[in-house]
Parts: sequence; C-alpha cells; structure tokens
Amino acid sequence: MTEMTATERGTRLADQSADAGTMLAWFRRMRESEPVSHDGEAGVWHVFRHSDVERILADPGTFSSDFSSFMPAQEDVDRFIKGNLLRKDPPQHRKLRTLVSKAFTPGVVARLAPRIEAITDELLDAKAGAEEIELVSDLASPLPVTVIAELLGIPAEDRPMFGRWADSLVAPESQTSFIPNEERTKSMAIVMREMNAYCLEHIRGRRARPREDLVSELVAAEVDGQRLDDDEIIGFVGLLLLAGHITTTALLTNVVLCLDEYPEVAAALRADTAGLPGAMEEVLRFRTPLAPSMRRTTRDVRVGELTVPAGQIVLAWLASANRDERRFPAPDSFDIRRAPNPHLSLGHGIHFCLGAPLARLEVRIALEKMLGRWSEMSVGEGVEYHDARGIVGAKRLPLQLQWT
Ligand code: HEM
Repeated sequence: MTEMTATERGTRLADQSADAGTMLAWFRRMRESEPVSHDGEAGVWHVFRHSDVERILADPGTFSSDFSSFMPAQEDVDRFIKGNLLRKDPPQHRKLRTLVSKAFTPGVVARLAPRIEAITDELLDAKAGAEEIELVSDLASPLPVTVIAELLGIPAEDRPMFGRWADSLVAPESQTSFIPNEERTKSMAIVMREMNAYCLEHIRGRRARPREDLVSELVAAEVDGQRLDDDEIIGFVGLLLLAGHITTTALLTNVVLCLDEYPEVAAALRADTAGLPGAMEEVLRFRTPLAPSMRRTTRDVRVGELTVPAGQIVLAWLASANRDERRFPAPDSFDIRRAPNPHLSLGHGIHFCLGAPLARLEVRIALEKMLGRWSEMSVGEGVEYHDARGIVGAKRLPLQLQWT
C-alpha cells in the first residue's frame, strides 16, 4: 500500500488562496484528528490546539522567533531585521523591548485619543452624506497609517508608500512562502533598501533636531547606559509601519462584518456603547486578524503526540486556538459578553503585541463615531477578502449608510 500524501490527508495548506470558512473547517478537523501535523511539502509543522499554541508562544528558548538562519545573508535585510523585535529572542529581545517600551508607553498612547478622534472626524466628514462608502480606503486603512505616521513624526502624505511596502512585505510572507528562499529574499531586499533609506533620513533628522515624537524619544531612550543605534531604530520604525497597519485595518473591517451578521448585537451597541470593548475582544477571537504565528524549533521537542525535530518551522495557528472547544464553551457562537476571553489574537508571552492599547483605542474611537453618525450600515456587494491563510479581514468593504 502506498503512503498517503499530506495533500490526500487534507493536512496541507492549499496552493490557492483560502477563505475564512474553509480555514475554520480545516482547523476544526485538524484539532480533532491531527492537532500537530507535519506538512513535508510546505516544510512546516502545524499546531492547532489552544494549549499547544499558548505553550509554544510562552517558550522562546525552544520556539525561536529568529529566522535569520533560513535567510541568505543580505545587507538590506540584515539591517532591517536588526531592530525588529518580533524576530528577536532573549536577551536581545529584552533589551530592544525595554528601550522601545520606554518611548511607547500607555501614557503616550492615551494622549493620542484627541488626535485619533480628529483624524476619524476628518475622514468621515470627507464622506458626509454619502449613501455608500468603501470602508477600507475611506477610513479603516488611512486611520491607523495616519496615526502611526504622526506618532513617528513622518509626513502622512507618504502613506501610499507605506501601503506598498506593507503589501509587498507582510502579506505574501504570511500567506504562501513560509520559508524565505533566495529569490524571495532578493525581492524583499529591494523594498527594504527603499524603506531603510527613508527611515534613516528621518532618524538622522531627529538626531540633529529632536522634536516631540516617538523617533526623537527612541533616539534618546537609554537603559543601563545603552542606547539604540540607527539600524535598531530603522528596524523598529519599519516594524511599526508594517505591524500597526494591515492588522488594525483588518480588525475594524471584522467588527463591521460581525455587526452586519449579528444585527441584534449592532442594536445593543447602538443603545449602549459600554459594550464596545467586550465586543472588540470577541471580534478579535471570532475573526482572528493574524491567523498564524511562526516559530523555529531550537531542539527536538515533544508537542502533543509528536516530536518536532530541531530547526523546523512551526505555524502556531492563533485562529484555530481561538476556536478550540477545549478552551472556549460554544466556540462558534459570537458572544460579546464572553468572560473570560483568553483569545491569542494579540499573541502571548514576551512578544505580546506592543501596539495592543493603540489598536484597541483606534478601533473603539472609530466605532463610536460610526455608530454615532450612521443610524444604519449594511455591507454591500463586492466585498474582497485577504487570503485567510495569513490575514483574516476585508481589503475592500462597500458599506451602505443612513446618516443620523
Ligand atoms: C506583535 C497582532 C496592532 C505593534 C504582535 C503579535 C501579534 C499581533 C499576534 C505577536 C506575534 C508573534 O508573537 O509572533 C496584532 C493585531 C493588531 C495589532 C491583531 C490589531 C488589531 C498593532 C499596532 C502596533 C503593533 C497598532 C503598533 C503601532 C506590534 C509590535 C509587535 C507586535 C511592535 C512585536 C512585539 C514583540 O516582539 O515584542 N501583534 N497587532 N501591533 N505588534 Fe501587533
């Protein structure tokens, strides 16, 4: 008898893009039948259950975030990665995170609220009275990009460029080719060179003439006599430009999609916006914006019933963990009063999302304004989604409106 291939067993990530429903069905099947699964063709291990995913994220010694051994050495990529704390392990991660956390405090984020309100108002005013808008280009994308650009002190007019960088760096990596090969590294290097040069010019400007912005604070931040060098700041600025963009946009579109699907929840939130924070957490669980987190094993390690050898890529599926019936009662019910709600959408452990307070603030403000201005909103024809193997959310979301 010939052995079945991974494709025949249905354990492989399909070659074509996948929608969220297909992925959820796959996750459900795999949590039951093969909670840890090796996909030899893609060269990755998949992990589906909440307890296993959480354990992987909590153990950076065994499950490393450093993939440099897979990448052919390349100057622009190395430079970009030097300050990218998402791709660092302890002790370098701790040094970088301590330094950037000093500049990116909850106080700094809270002080942004009036600006976030003003930017949201401006974007909504530009569409005043329109019967239909396209939520992504009219609000969900420009809002987080403008906020990050202002935080960093970068001109908001340059934001189409950030969008282009994000599209070429974030989306493909998180979708099909999990192991960066030489060709991919070359194409990434071209984008990174452009991004590094842009960021460096900005950083040098702030070293010469500090202002009231995050880059000026990063330039000055110091822990135990240590400062960040230019390359480390480049990596962090680049990470912020990419990390805070697609994910926050996706979350806002996901809230709108959920409210469209559950009109009783929309009515309850209109009547009392105090339920918004709980609703946002449930949307984060129910439609997980960043579907997998990626790690590399540093030693042979037992996960569930299997031993994953050293040097393997592991995809810890946050989107599957968030629907695990072992952790969440009635996981497929959308329940904005779910408590506790230990979803893993913002990560877990040392890499827990640094921008979580900012993302929550932006989306809450945007929703309060949307519910206040529009007595009705319904999703129109022509919604386009990201590939749900990487990002769960809409990249085009027509909305029909009634203004109050
Ligand atoms: C890390 C999700 C918004 C900055 C992470 C991680 C996740 C995540 C899952 C951990 C990844 C891992 O462990 O492999 C999200 C989601 C967001 C969001 C779903 C929106 C709803 C933001 C924003 C910013 C940001 C707005 C900044 C402006 C970061 C940074 C890290 C990170 C710097 C790396 C932290 C570290 O490695 O120590 N995010 N994020 N994120 N996020 Fe977010």
